[in-house]
Amino acid sequence: MGKYQIAVIVGSLRRDSFNRKLANALAKLAPSEFSFKQVQIGDLPLYNQDDDAQQAASVLRLKNDLKAAQGFLFVTAEYNRSIPGVLKNAIDHASRPYGQSAWTGKPAGVLGVSVGATGTALAQQHLRNVLAYLDVPVLGQPEAFLQAKDGLFDAAGNIGTDSKKFLQSWMDQYLAWVKKHTA
Ligand SMILES: Cc1cc2nc3c(=O)[nH]c(=O)nc-3n(C[C@H](O)[C@H](O)[C@H](O)COP(=O)(O)O)c2cc1C
Repeated sequence: MGKYQIAVIVGSLRRDSFNRKLANALAKLAPSEFSFKQVQIGDLPLYNQDDDAQQAASVLRLKNDLKAAQGFLFVTAEYNRSIPGVLKNAIDHASRPYGQSAWTGKPAGVLGVSVGATGTALAQQHLRNVLAYLDVPVLGQPEAFLQAKDGLFDAAGNIGTDSKKFLQSWMDQYLAWVKKHTA
């Protein structure tokens, strides 16, 4: 296991999700001192504040995974010009009970891929709002708005040639951001 653990939160449950593929490919761009774990959010119950005193096992698992990490990587789809409900549900769960948020203070990166030309820009902006409230410092630049097109991934699931240089640079700056906030 690497020195820095990154909890990866994929904002899509779709079997062949582009965002999950992107998350998998990005992890391969990091040096071995970083390890990546995609946290499970698909089995979380719908958030209900009545349950705060006795959070479900799946919620406690998520919070433990987040607490064990030095940084967060959000790779999200855009649904109706915002973040998918499953992602917001996970964020809300891990932010509670009040005063016991698993998000606070850890560095994050936000990016995503959509079929539309706006490349999840609006979802990312909404997510940045939420994370600001949760006291999560998010890498500001560079931003990464990706459109799902042929060639984004190669046959082995790596980032394709056209996007490789840009996404390697994005990852390098994200990883430096994590280190800076972990030092
Ligand atoms: C409910 C729903 C709403 C969507 N809204 C948007 C949108 O606002 N912007 C966009 O670019 N794509 C939108 N899409 C298309 C997604 O970009 C596309 O389904 C993409 O594959 C989702 O990411 P994934 O492959 O990781 O699941 C929407 C898809 C669904 C199912």
